[in-house]
Order: sequence, then C-alpha cells, then structure tokens
Amino acid sequence: MVRGAPSGDLSGKTVLVVGANVGIGLEASKHFARMQPARLIIACRSEAKGKVALAEIERETGYNGCEPWIVDLANFASVIAFADKFKREGGDLHILVMNAAIALPVYQPTIDGWETILQVNYLATSLLSLLLIPQLVAAGRKSTVPSRMVIVSSGVLYWLTPAKEIETSLKPLETLGSEEWCIPNHMQSRYSESKLLNLFFVRALTDRLRSVTPLSTIAVTPGFCYSQLRRVWYEKPTFSFVKIVLAIHERLLAWTAEQGSRQLIFAAVGGRDDEENMKGGFVSRGRLVEVADFVLSDEGHRMQDTVWNETIDILSGVSDKISPIVRDYLVVPDSSIN
Ligand SMILES: NC(=O)c1ccc[n+]([C@@H]2O[C@H](COP(=O)([O-])OP(=O)(O)OC[C@H]3O[C@@H](n4cnc5c(N)ncnc54)[C@H](OP(=O)(O)O)[C@@H]3O)[C@@H](O)[C@H]2O)c1
Repeated sequence: MVRGAPSGDLSGKTVLVVGANVGIGLEASKHFARMQPARLIIACRSEAKGKVALAEIERETGYNGCEPWIVDLANFASVIAFADKFKREGGDLHILVMNAAIALPVYQPTIDGWETILQVNYLATSLLSLLLIPQLVAAGRKSTVPSRMVIVSSGVLYWLTPAKEIETSLKPLETLGSEEWCIPNHMQSRYSESKLLNLFFVRALTDRLRSVTPLSTIAVTPGFCYSQLRRVWYEKPTFSFVKIVLAIHERLLAWTAEQGSRQLIFAAVGGRDDEENMKGGFVSRGRLVEVADFVLSDEGHRMQDTVWNETIDILSGVSDKISPIVRDYLVVPDSSIN
C-alpha cells in the first residue's frame, strides 16, 4: 500500500531537487510546488528540459516560484559550477533532494574518466551534497527544524552482497571505476552498487555530523516505479528478453512515479516528531525501515568507512572546497577512535 504524500507549508523555504525533469523527481517537485516554497530550484541537464518541466509544474500546480538550473552530474566541472552559482545566488537551502540517477547495461566512461553510473549516481551526487552543506547548515541555524538532505537510494541494495574483491579492497571505488573491472557481468550489479554507496554515504555523513548541527541526512527508496530509469533497454530497436521481462514487471508491479515521489516528500518533510531517528535513516513506504543485513554487518561497517575515506580523497582532488567543508562541518566519528 502506498501512503499519501505528507503535506506541509514550505513558505519562506528554499528547496532544490536534482534530476527533476522527468519521473519521480518531477512528481516530487510538483508536490513541493503545492507546498508553496519561497524558491523551488529544479536542476536538470539542459535548459530545454528545465523549461518543459517548469511549464508542467506551473500548469499542474499554479505555483510560479520554480527556477530551472542546469547541472550535469556526469561532469564534475558542471557540478562545481552549479555549487558556485548556488553559493552566489541560492541563499540558504532548507531541503536538498539528490534524485538524479542513471542505469546503463555497459561500461561508459565520463569526461572525467569514471564509469558513468558510479560518477552520476554516487561520486557527483556526493560531491554536490558535500558542497551544499554550508548552505544547508546556514538554513538550519535560522530555522526551528533541521535542514534535510535527502539522497535517493533503492531497495535493490537488499539483494546485493558486494563481490569480495570490492568489499576487501582498500580502494573499492577505484576498483569499481576501472575499465578492467567493468566487464558486462560485473556491470549487471553496478546500479545496485551505486545505490548501496548512496546509503553508505548517508550513514557515514550522519556519523560525522555533530549532533548539534541542524542538518538531517536521510536515504530513501521510492519503490519500484514506472519511469524513464530503464529507458536504455527500451530504446534498443530490437525485441530482447530483458525488454519483455521489464515491460511485464512494470505493467504488473510498478507504482506510478507520483506514488514513488511520495517517499521523497516524506523523507524531506515528514517524521519531524522523530528527527533523531530520521538522521541517517532509510525511508521506505512512508516510514523508517531497517537497512540490509550487509550494511549492519562488521564487513559492511568496514566497507562504509573505507568508501567514505576514499570518497573524500577523490572529491578533495576534484574540488578544493571539500577539505575546508570536512574540516569545518564534520568530526571524526566515535567508532573510528581507538
Ligand atoms: N524507478 C524505479 O523503479 C526506482 C526504484 C528505486 C529507486 N529509484 C531511484 O529514483 C530516482 C529517480 O529515478 P526515476 O525512476 O525517476 O528515473 P528517471 O525517470 O530516469 O529520472 C532520472 C532523473 O535523473 C536525471 N539524470 C540522469 N543523469 C543525469 C546527469 N548526468 N545529470 C543530471 N541529471 C541526470 C534525469 O535527467 P534526463 O532526463 O536528462 O536523463 C532524470 O531527471 C533515482 O535515484 C533512481 O535510482 C528508482
């Protein structure tokens, strides 16, 4: 059963949805628009896509405070330019929803040399999330409730146990990103791996935020939804087994993107009476749920810490703003002090 979307009043608040032109992100943006935020920034890959989404949001909700901004997560320079623009023009940020993601069957490197799913779904998502911490914390300090950083993950991570080579690697991201590792067989789990990394990020960041910092970081799964996520399989000109199985699954089991978007809204504005538990939590079907056994295991904890350290190393090389943000806003978690 899908619960209704929580409603609320976002007047005076700024909301940013990344990946907002189609699917779950677009539907979430419409829900936000109905809550009348002072600003609703929808980040899309191109101006043309942003304008189409803006028109649909205005038409369906009557809200006219929507601003399309451009970001391409497959390009670190674009993410950095977006964060710089936000620092100049965005002001305080009350709700960030990192929704954009991609699913691909084969290895494709980005302009930065990373495998595309790994960069879009994880590295660039984490980069932008970290770069926007100052604006999120500034908003939380002036508000009666903490700001929310929502990272869209997926329930597919429940079915994933990372390969031993990845789990025990001292540089799992480097291994995952290497062309040698990205053979078609390994690429079958890449999307799920990226969604596990999203959850690791949320939990690791929560461990490193001081309890008094007015920012709650939350992972969410929208559930299996009909959207454009699996578009590359449908774009193939020939009939394939995968295409047929996907179509049957979607027809029989999928929620609409609007139904899925309600989970993002709950993660962004719901559970305010349980804020401490929301921090680092995983939202599914309108409530907090227990995460996968692997994430809770000793191996999972070790991998989460290894991935965090490697992420900060990589992203510090991408942007010189990462180190000061880590220094000024994060602490070493108790579990890492011996
Ligand atoms: N649908 C499901 O069954 C399901 C299940 C669990 C979790 N999720 C998660 O839900 C979220 C939304 O997915 P969806 O199902 O709504 O998929 P979707 O319809 O394909 O929407 C994905 C969004 O991400 C954007 N995006 C992709 N690559 C990007 C890039 N390089 N830079 C900026 N934006 C980019 C897309 O923009 P373009 O249109 O320009 O590509 C689009 O706006 C994702 O995080 C997905 O992993 C979905």
